[in-house]
Amino acid sequence: MLTLCLLSDLIWSGCVRASSPRLALEKSLVWPSKDIQCVHLLKHLQNRARVTVQMPPNIQGHWVSTSCEVRPGPEFLTRSYRFFHNNTFKALQFYYADNHCSTPSYSVQVRGRLRLRQPSWIVRGGTEADYQIHSMRLVCHSASAARELGCASWQPNISYELWSGCGCVCALNVSMHELQLLRLEKQYLHHSLDQLLEELYLGDIHTEAAQRMLYRPSSYQPALQNTQNQDLSCVVCRIISRSDELHPPVLPPRPELTVTLRGQWASRRCEVRPEVLFLTRHFIFHDSNHTWEGHYYHYSDPACRHPTFSLFARGRYSRGLRSTRVMGGTEFEFRVNHMRVTAMDLATTSLLNVFKGSGCGVQGSWQVGVEQDVTPTNGCAALGLRLPHTEYELFRLERDAGGQFLLFNGQRPSDGSSPDRPDRRPTSYQTPLVQCSAAGGQRSEVSAAQSLDNLATTAAAAAVWSLWVSERR
Ligand SMILES: *[C@@H]1O[C@H](CO)[C@@H](O)[C@H](O)[C@H]1NC(C)=O
Ligand SMILES: *[C@@H]1O[C@H](CO)[C@@H](O)[C@H](O)[C@H]1NC(C)=O
Ligand SMILES: *[C@@H]1O[C@H](CO)[C@@H](O)[C@H](O)[C@H]1NC(C)=O
Ligand SMILES: *[C@@H]1O[C@H](CO)[C@@H](O)[C@H](O)[C@H]1NC(C)=O
Repeated sequence: MLTLCLLSDLIWSGCVRASSPRLALEKSLVWPSKDIQCVHLLKHLQNRARVTVQMPPNIQGHWVSTSCEVRPGPEFLTRSYRFFHNNTFKALQFYYADNHCSTPSYSVQVRGRLRLRQPSWIVRGGTEADYQIHSMRLVCHSASAARELGCASWQPNISYELWSGCGCVCALNVSMHELQLLRLEKQYLHHSLDQLLEELYLGDIHTEAAQRMLYRPSSYQPALQNTQNQDLSCVVCRIISRSDELHPPVLPPRPELTVTLRGQWASRRCEVRPEVLFLTRHFIFHDSNHTWEGHYYHYSDPACRHPTFSLFARGRYSRGLRSTRVMGGTEFEFRVNHMRVTAMDLATTSLLNVFKGSGCGVQGSWQVGVEQDVTPTNGCAALGLRLPHTEYELFRLERDAGGQFLLFNGQRPSDGSSPDRPDRRPTSYQTPLVQCSAAGGQRSEVSAAQSLDNLATTAAAAAVWSLWVSERR
């Protein structure tokens, strides 16, 4: 029935008007049946009925990172934040010399007051807040860390107050601007009502060091988890929740997985990009001929229920070296030479239709739900997409606590530009994608899980594992 809707304009426009956003999404997800796991995964993001967003959020409690986080720079860190009943907070940030967060270099403790304001009208679903800093302390965990911060005279493992005058600490640019945007999500795990997972999203950090102190967040960092009702599989959370500024968390080292781009990968959640874009992504990599395909589904709302437009992009990629700048990262180069656009709502359709000139498909011909090839017009100027296009990328591969492969690619520059020059290559990552099919496209090949896994997963185990991925959602 959904396919029928695509075939006839008449039926189809009736279909869109009558359809729920979910139907519209399914319509946009017409793929070969072998991609069913990926479709299933993305479709079920829409059904996250068990996820509720609390506004205004009650954030009182203790919140910790769930992994070693990477900030632009790069900076490797873990966070442990406490919010008290009297609107004050104590935020601990632990910085490391390595990408596994196993070698602490220094810790910062910030105390202050937080005042929640109104729902954000820039980032729907978020709450704005103001904060004041009352005190800041810093501990270097080694003499070399102190030297690197320019505070060579400081003793290791002694807590120093950084208040009046800033001396060496100005170089640090510590700010708590992340507290200006908050989002609290609650969800019940494992189909039972007894395990509540609470995730606190705080504002993002500008990708450019010089902008950090001026930037008001317009997207989020990885979520912090409430320690009170913690996901028991989160070993990292437990380690972090027990630490303090003199005893920084030391995370267990993990095997460094080789990034081999193969198979299919999809978003695990509705993602937020700066400049107010909500989207989900689905990538297919063919490592035999180094080509890739990307599907990007854009939405107007933070639950990814109301589609605005979708993009299909295709091109080639080449693998570079391990990054010398970002420990644990691998460089790639992506070229886009083919692109198709589908407007999914009336607002986007009219935007594309009023767009003057020949910059985006056939002028004035856009209709809701009808895909157009914009390759002949060198992309779509109305949406800021130009072809051919090259992006300098950074990737990393991890496994989560449940054994799923997670693929991280580079965070987009916060100013909305594109990493189209080697010097704009990202130094931090976006929300990861999860592997939803080990095989790409038409071939049935050795599973990616098998070849990627240092622990020698069998093909059978990999098959069970990918079933589990789709069932778990
Ligand atoms: C707020 O509460 C915290 C924790 O109970 C306490 O340590 C702090 O002194 C209080 N601050 C003020 C200004 O009352
Ligand atoms: C700190 O901020 C200033 C400007 O605000 C910037 O020029 C400098 O690069 C930043 N330093 C670091 C280490 O991020
Ligand atoms: C400082 O503390 C860290 C973490 O507790 C420890 O590993 C390190 O050995 C200490 N360094 C010195 C010089 O005491
Ligand atoms: C690359 O390989 C895939 C899978 O074998 C195939 O579907 C695709 O058409 C190939 N692309 C090119 C440009 O050869």
